[in-house]
Amino acid sequence: MGRKEFKRYQMVLDLQQIEIPEVRLPDGYHWVPWRSFLNERHAQVKWRSFRDDLDGQVFECLRDVDGCRRLISEITRQPTFCGDATWLLSFQQDPEWPSRDCGTIQGIERSGGFGAIQNVGIIPEHRGRSLGRALICKSLVGFQEAGLPFASLEVTALNSVAVGLYRSLGFEVTQVLFRDAERGRVIEGSRRAPEPSEQKLPAR
Ligand SMILES: CC(C)(COP(=O)(O)OP(=O)(O)OC[C@H]1O[C@@H](n2cnc3c(N)ncnc32)[C@H](O)[C@@H]1OP(=O)(O)O)[C@@H](O)C(=O)NCCC(=O)NCCS
Repeated sequence: MGRKEFKRYQMVLDLQQIEIPEVRLPDGYHWVPWRSFLNERHAQVKWRSFRDDLDGQVFECLRDVDGCRRLISEITRQPTFCGDATWLLSFQQDPEWPSRDCGTIQGIERSGGFGAIQNVGIIPEHRGRSLGRALICKSLVGFQEAGLPFASLEVTALNSVAVGLYRSLGFEVTQVLFRDAERGRVIEGSRRAPEPSEQKLPAR
């Protein structure tokens, strides 16, 4: 059987050139800052956000809960892990009801002053309430507070909602690459600069 590969965009935002929009959460939602004992909660939300979506089909590690546990553990163990850019979003319908986690984002510092966003996810029942936008903005503030001048991320080119969201925040495509779905590795020789049509901002 042939190897499955997926087109991905590397996107970058200059944090010195933008004013990050103020984040206001709808009623009932609250932020949970990162602590190491929250890794399991991050893994659960990541799994529930990705399992039925495009990237869950694309990447094996996002399709099952153990894959998400490994991913969170690998991310948070890195010496350049950025706790300030790592957040859970939780929802509590009523003060007497338990909170339920509904969103996750993690950040890592990369060489060159880049804060790299790792797999933002909102579980399906909570989408379309600007929570994905809020999570990214919260993470960007964390990168700024950590003194990082740029933010970067990678997104599957077919994920039009996510690409549109990143573009609307000012991210631009700087590179196009192909990844092997099984191992997640970049396929050798696949990196290239974006075509003008890939750089173009969508009409808003
Ligand atoms: C991408 C994702 C995080 C967006 O979360 P969300 O909370 O629904 O997004 P928001 O409500 O903040 O919406 C962001 C923008 O996308 C648009 N949007 C949201 N859902 C949409 C849909 N189904 N179709 C078209 N546009 C949509 C919104 O209109 C909004 O734009 P606006 O602020 O200009 O109105 C969420 O869909 C998700 O978790 N997807 C699965 C995991 C994933 O693919 N993550 C990205 C990996 S790189």
